[in-house]
Amino acid sequence: MKNGMRIALWVVLSAVALLAALAAAGLMLSAHRRDRVVALPPLAKVTLVADDKAIGRGAYLYATRGCVDCHGVDGAGRTFVDDGSLKIKGPNISPGPGSVVTAYQTADWDRTLRHGVKPDGRALLVMPSEDYNRLTDTDLVALMTYVKALPPAAGGAAVIDLPLPVRVLHGFGQIPEAATKIDHARPNNTHEVPPGESIEYGRYVGEMCKGCHGDKLLGGKIAGGSPDWPPAPRLTRGDGSVLPKYPDAEALVAMMRSGHPLRGIVPPDEATAWEAEHPALVARFARHDIVGDPTHVREQLEAVAGRYETDDLTIAGNLYDFEDRLRSFELTARAAANGATQSSATISPGGDDGMGSPAR
Ligand code: HEC
Ligand code: HEC
Repeated sequence: MKNGMRIALWVVLSAVALLAALAAAGLMLSAHRRDRVVALPPLAKVTLVADDKAIGRGAYLYATRGCVDCHGVDGAGRTFVDDGSLKIKGPNISPGPGSVVTAYQTADWDRTLRHGVKPDGRALLVMPSEDYNRLTDTDLVALMTYVKALPPAAGGAAVIDLPLPVRVLHGFGQIPEAATKIDHARPNNTHEVPPGESIEYGRYVGEMCKGCHGDKLLGGKIAGGSPDWPPAPRLTRGDGSVLPKYPDAEALVAMMRSGHPLRGIVPPDEATAWEAEHPALVARFARHDIVGDPTHVREQLEAVAGRYETDDLTIAGNLYDFEDRLRSFELTARAAANGATQSSATISPGGDDGMGSPAR
């Protein structure tokens, strides 16, 4: 054998050995990740109020927040992906035989749903708890009350059969679990918004779209999603937004009726349930009214700046009276300055466009 060939062969063999070693390391790391304990800060106590209202709201949330897709209408667990190499089935969470929640305490529901961590401290691998982290106590309790009151159904533990490359990627931290995406130190969402056709409520409902459509709903590749999922589109106004396709609530309802593209056909009950929320979602996506106290206004202005990746906002007042306009700039500047650590708020009245100069 010529020297050159020998070297080439040696290089190829070493590359193969290296890949095999990497794969083995990935598998080991993956097993290690699945067994590691995720430490949570002490969680605030959730008080259980189990009444009919909670059950009704819980049933509604169960049907509209994805639980039904993976745990089934009866809670016994449902296979929601099965394409040969990849099979995932949600576990039985009804009170029936084989259930994984028989020993669950109230705090365990909180840990699982809002933090993606099982009672034994291990991270949930598949369930999108990041979408549920902003659930208020009322809604958490409603879900838990409903699930606990389900008729007992038989079903087993979760089935999570991942193909080798996925396990290796997981081992190297390329498929982050919900628990690694969630900021566990963030205080619970105590801002209860009454269900209805309001931007506030739409914003609350929209929290559960963020896992896929992005933190700011700007869309993009879905981290940890199946390789054949297309990128999620932008849900807020701007370049590449899908909003022009959904000018009003009816259009969005019609889409959810025929099924969100990723979820296939939605059961009719669920489609009807969604109808109540879509007007709120449309309101949330399409409009950006900012109403509230100075702190809230400042936070929302910062959110707008973040959405457009700028730190320079120009605010024009459309108030006719000059004094009123000046006053509105003063209030906005004060809101912007309120609590700001580094940024400064300056205000210069006047200007030649009749609209006053920007308040920054
Ligand atoms: C995309 C599928 C999916 C969705 C949506 C989903 N789950 Fe799960 N859930 C799972 C899987 C898979 C597991 C098994 C644990 C894992 O993810 O590794 C699980 C585990 C659980 C567990 C038991 C955890 C343990 O101790 O083993 C509970 C309780 C639960 N889910 C409740 C819910 C509720 C309530 C909802 C709706 C708010 C929900 N799930 C939404 C897939 C899902
Ligand atoms: C599990 C991930 C996931 C979640 C959760 C999710 N989406 Fe999507 N969504 C996607 C993906 C991926 C697409 C793009 C599908 C395609 O292009 O075929 C999409 C597309 C859309 C579209 C555009 C459909 C069209 O006309 O092309 C809308 C509107 C939408 N999603 C709204 C929502 C809303 C509202 C929520 C929350 C209530 C939500 N999605 C939650 C992944 C998700």
